[in-house]
Amino acid sequence: MHSVVSQDANGDGAAPQLAPADVDLSVQLGPLHLDNPIMTASGTAGLGLEMEPFFDLAEAGAIVVKTITKAPRKGNPLPRLSETPSGLLNSIGLPNKGIDAFIEKTLPLLAGKSRCLVVNIAGGCHGEFSELAGRLDGLPGIDALELNISCPNVEDGNLPFARDPDVVKDLVAEVRSATSLPLITKLSPNVTDVASIAQAAKEGGSDAVSLINTVLGMSVDWRSGQPGLGTVIGGLSGPAVKPIALRMCLEVKRAVEIPIIGIGGIMSADDALEFLTVGASAVQVGTAHYKVPDIVPRLIAGLRERLAGAGRASVREQIASMKVP
Ligand code: SIN
Repeated sequence: MHSVVSQDANGDGAAPQLAPADVDLSVQLGPLHLDNPIMTASGTAGLGLEMEPFFDLAEAGAIVVKTITKAPRKGNPLPRLSETPSGLLNSIGLPNKGIDAFIEKTLPLLAGKSRCLVVNIAGGCHGEFSELAGRLDGLPGIDALELNISCPNVEDGNLPFARDPDVVKDLVAEVRSATSLPLITKLSPNVTDVASIAQAAKEGGSDAVSLINTVLGMSVDWRSGQPGLGTVIGGLSGPAVKPIALRMCLEVKRAVEIPIIGIGGIMSADDALEFLTVGASAVQVGTAHYKVPDIVPRLIAGLRERLAGAGRASVREQIASMKVP
C-alpha cells in the first residue's frame, strides 16, 4: 500500500497523491535489473571511482566505465574538448590503461560499489572485442558489457563497425559466444538507418542497445582558421543532440523489439522522462556531469517527484504509457 501525502479529506473524489519515496523506479533491461533507470554514460564518469566525492555509486541505476581496450592507449592530441552553444565537442581517443590494468588494479577497487557495473569495451577488430569479453566473463563485480562500436575518435576507426548491419551482427555474435554477461551495444547516430543497426545487434545476440553516441561535428576559429579539436573533427554531445537522440530512440522502438537505453543531452528529470516516453527503459547521463557532478542523485530525486506528481506508482507505468505514434 502506498502512503499518501494528501488525503481526499473533503471527499471530493480527487485522487490521493503518491509520496515521491513510494514511486518504484526499478526497470528491467532484458536480463539486467536496475533499481532505477539512471546510468552514467561511458567516458563521462571516468572509471566510476572519480565520482565518489560527488555521490554514492550505489545510488546510480548502473555505473558504466570509460571504454577499456586491449592495449593501453594514450588518447588523442590536445585540445580534446571544445565547448559550443548547447553542446560539447570531444575527441578524447579512448585513453585507458588497457584490460590488464583494469582487471588487476581498477576492478578490485570498483567491484561491489555500485548496484550494477557495466564495463564498456572497444576492440580494433572483431577478435579483440570477443577477447576482451572473454577476459571479463565471470569476473566478480561485473554485471554487463557495453560494446562501443561507435566511437568516432579513433584512428583505426570504430565507425565502420557501427555503420554496417552485417558487420554489427557478426561482431555481436562473436562477443555473444565469448561471454554469458548481458550485452548492450552502443549505437552511433552517424548512420542512415539506426533501426537496421539495432536489429542487427539484436540478431547477433545483444540484450539491449544504448543510443546515441556522439554526433560528428567540428568547431573553428574563423580568424586563425584553427579548429577547436586537435583531430579537427570529433563528436558532439549535450543538449544540442537531444532531439536527434529522441528521434533515433523512437525509430528503434518502432522497428525492433529490444530494450533501449536513451542517451543524449539529458540535463533534467524531464529530459530523462522524454526518453522513457519514446521507448527507452533506462537512460545514460553524460555531458551533464561536467556541469553538475552530482546529477545522478538529482535526476533520481527529480524522477520520483515528477512521477509522484503525475500519479504514476512506478516508472514502468510511464514507460508503458508511451503514446508517441
Ligand atoms: C572518446 O574517447 O573519444 C570518446 C568515446 C566515444 O565517443 O565513444
